[in-house]
Amino acid sequence: MKYRGVIFDLDGVLCSTDEYHYLAWKEIGEAIGIDFTRADNHRLRGVSRMESLEILLEKSEQDFSQEKKELLAERKNRIYRKYLERMSEKDLVPGALELFSELKKRNLKIAVGSSSKNAGFILEKLGIRDAFDAVVDGNDIEHSKPHPEVFLNAAEALGLEPGSILVLEDAEAGIEAARAGGFVPVGIGPAAGSAVFRIDKLSDLLGIIK
Ligand code: BG6
Ligand code: MG
Repeated sequence: MKYRGVIFDLDGVLCSTDEYHYLAWKEIGEAIGIDFTRADNHRLRGVSRMESLEILLEKSEQDFSQEKKELLAERKNRIYRKYLERMSEKDLVPGALELFSELKKRNLKIAVGSSSKNAGFILEKLGIRDAFDAVVDGNDIEHSKPHPEVFLNAAEALGLEPGSILVLEDAEAGIEAARAGGFVPVGIGPAAGSAVFRIDKLSDLLGIIK
């Protein structure tokens, strides 16, 4: 078999947290006089919290000190975490558990590779904290996607070569990261335009592995 592992992005692949990010950033925007739109929010897919803030601040004419930026990012995260609190197993994307067990049956290893520092919390809420052979998230990396660090760390934890791993991503930054690390990117949803493979729903992944 050609592939020996799958690395899943979390936000936008195994669950949808987009709207929560949007509402939280919008509240921060309002506090500093910026109109933050859903279109702006799409640009934040896959990039770290601080880089997301920098994108939001492109709309502001004010200069913010590093200290003030950190306060804004912390404030956003407190708002965001309140939305995450409401999540449960019902928020796991349909077909995920079936896919994990089918992949294991076929002897593929599975990991999460996420830019989020809240990944552990979200995985717990979704009830899949222990489903993976490895979890690498925003707390374990220096460079966020499109840098390949998160996926390279996951590959190392799985003990597999990048070329034997499919990376499932909803964001262009994640597809770029996968490609830069020598992985095989699989795009899910409309934003992942340049992936090698594209699927519409999780179970379609099995058609790629065969
Ligand atoms: C990614 C999201 O998974 O995590 C981004 O796609 C987000 O939109 C990033 O900015 C960081 O998230 P967190 O939870 O660490 O603030
Ligand atoms: Mg994503």
